[in-house]
This record gives sequence, structure tokens and C-alpha cells, in this order.
Amino acid sequence: MKDHQPYVLVATGIGKSYRMPGHGLVRVLHQANIQVQSGEFVAVVGPSGSGKSTLLHILATLDQPDEGTVVYTVDNASFIVEDLSVDVVARLRNSEIGMVFQAHHLLPEFTVLENVMMPALIAGSSHADAYARAVALVERVGMAHRTEHSPQELSGGEQQRTAIARALINRPRFLFADEPTGNLDHLTAEAIMEMMTDLQRDHHLTCVIATHSRHVAERADRVVHLRDGHVLEGDSE
Ligand SMILES: Nc1ncnc2c1ncn2[C@@H]1O[C@H](COP(=O)(O)OP(=O)(O)OP(=O)(O)O)[C@@H](O)[C@H]1O
Ligand SMILES: [Mg+2]
Repeated sequence: MKDHQPYVLVATGIGKSYRMPGHGLVRVLHQANIQVQSGEFVAVVGPSGSGKSTLLHILATLDQPDEGTVVYTVDNASFIVEDLSVDVVARLRNSEIGMVFQAHHLLPEFTVLENVMMPALIAGSSHADAYARAVALVERVGMAHRTEHSPQELSGGEQQRTAIARALINRPRFLFADEPTGNLDHLTAEAIMEMMTDLQRDHHLTCVIATHSRHVAERADRVVHLRDGHVLEGDSE
């Protein structure tokens, strides 16, 4: 089914190193390549420290590689992220990219509904429009009963649901999630993943997640492994 979809996210020759005191330059990614089709759900797996978060941040335009290119294709137009100005990348990120972080970064002084509305307001939506979309999304992720609660009054799974709703408020085409079910019990993790795959299908999202969990990875269309800084296709351990 997905065989006929074009590639909408192509990262080529990605290199990333960090300078660590006492350890010199530590190479995390080296000549890493990944191609993602429109509407595809890709899981990136690999041991702790293998570079999953680093890769996800680079793909999501939140970090820049030392080498290589990340190319987005939106409405048949392709953009090399490294060639765009900071402002244009910020706009691309705000309108087309949703991101769910491992630490949810929900704003503690705002309610669930306000947290979900925030990216829409930042993007210039009217309050009424942001409100209507946020209400629908909060309901969609099963959080309607907690609309007026603050994040610290929520369970881990509820915070994760809220973060997913917030990531989707601007109707992005791309969704990145870093350990979306980290720290959750098995049943809650299953429920979150089922919701994410439903949302992905309904919104035709192109989705890349990083995960430790085999169960989570099994729900993806494709699993890639990070090993020695490379992206390896297939389900090899
Ligand atoms: N800002 C940074 N400065 C220095 N080193 C970093 C930085 N970010 C990541 N690293 C190093 O890069 C390597 C890869 O980190 P990364 O967070 O991408 O791994 P990961 O696969 O997501 O791990 P985990 O499964 O534990 O989340 C680690 O060895 C880490 O110490
Ligand atoms: Mg990580």
C-alpha cells in the first residue's frame, strides 16, 4: 500500500559528533541515511546512547548535523533544511512538524486545553479556531475529563496524551515522538500506541518514533536500527 508513496523525508550522510570533556570528540552518527515515505510509520530502535534522540532531533529540524542533508518534500516542493534561513525552518517546524518529547515539556502554569492551544496561537490562529481544534483533539486523545486541569495533576499517560494532542494542533504532516511510551506501564503504553497509530492513519501523518520497546516497534510499518552511528534496515538485533 505504502509502496506507491513518494519519499517526503530523506536524510543523507548524516554525521554528528559531540565534544565531551575528557573524551575528545565522540561520534554519535556517521553517514546515517534514512528515507521515509508519505504516511509511513517508522520506528528507530537501538540501545541507550546509540543516537536515537540525536537523529530524531536532526530529522525534526531541532538540531543541525555536522555533515549531510535533511530534505523535506511538502506539496511537491523539496527543501534542504540546511539551506533554509532560521526563520523559514521555524515556520516549517511550526506548521508541518509535531514533536512529542520524552520529557513532555507541558507548561505547568497552563491547563491541558491551554497547553494544546498554545502552538496554534503562536502560529497566528484566532482564539476561537485554536479553542475549537484543541477541544476536538483533547477529546480525541481521551482527555476531555481533564481539560481544565494543570499538567502536574495528570498521570504520566495523561501527560503523554496531552503532549500528542499539542503536537497535532497545527495539523502537521510529520510527527516525531521520542520514547512516546517511556515510563508508562504496559497497558497504558499499548493504549497510547493504539491511539498514535489511529491518529497517524486518520491524519495521514508521516511518523518517526524512537523507542526501546519491541512491542512499540512492532506497531510501525518499518523498523530501523541504529548501530555504530549507521541506520540499518530490517529487524536484526
Ligand atoms: N548535547 C550533548 N552533548 C554531548 N553529548 C551528547 C549530547 N547529546 C547526546 N550526547 C551523547 O550522544 C550519544 C547519543 O545520545 P542520544 O540521546 O541520541 O541516545 P539515545 O539513543 O536517544 O539514548 P536513550 O535510549 O538513552 O534515550 C550519547 O552517548 C550521549 O552522551
Ligand atoms: Mg533518547
